[in-house]
Amino acid sequence: MVFLVFAHPYPDRSRANRHLLDAVSDLEGVEVRSLYDEYPTFDIDVPREQAALTRADAVVWQHPIYWYSTPSLLKHWFDKVLLRGWAYGEGGTALRGKRCLWVATTGGDEDAYRPEGMHNRPFEAYTPVVEQTAVFCGMRWQEPLIIKGAHRVPEPALNEYAQNYRARVAALVKQGAAA
Ligand SMILES: Cc1cc2nc3c(=O)[nH]c(=O)nc-3n(C[C@H](O)[C@H](O)[C@H](O)COP(=O)(O)O)c2cc1C
Repeated sequence: MVFLVFAHPYPDRSRANRHLLDAVSDLEGVEVRSLYDEYPTFDIDVPREQAALTRADAVVWQHPIYWYSTPSLLKHWFDKVLLRGWAYGEGGTALRGKRCLWVATTGGDEDAYRPEGMHNRPFEAYTPVVEQTAVFCGMRWQEPLIIKGAHRVPEPALNEYAQNYRARVAALVKQGAAA
């Protein structure tokens, strides 16, 4: 099973993430958790989340980039769910060996993520925190899927990203079944 953790504060107003999510949510073997729909008061059901992660062979984190990072509810999910003695530290082996795919969209386009651009640095300068969160828990970091300039990506390109995403998630399901 692939556990897809989706964190968009305004799923009804999303263009890019909605498109991407629609491309994978009907895949067999994918369990979607829309954090802002399920936990609007930030009251995360930790045992439920840990049970889903335990069942999963792979984990996907999908969200728009907010202030160079995850939306706050996904950060809160990290804080509450990825506990010492469970996800890391002594006896903390629950996530070890599971693949982790990061799927994120940005408002800034390629030009914005250049040294002389609006965001001053390449996007990769902002990625180590999320990557290391997964790696610290013993997960196998996959090549992330990052869609830059999400507001202006033309429909055909967005479709292509969505199909690529579908193929990546289908492959994760297959790898899990074969493991
Ligand atoms: C509070 C907030 C913070 C944001 N911070 C960033 C940012 O740091 N970098 C960036 O490129 N885009 C930023 N954005 C733009 C979003 O990433 C963009 O709206 C989103 O990826 C579009 O996807 P959607 O159509 O699924 O909403 C921000 C947007 C909001 C509302």
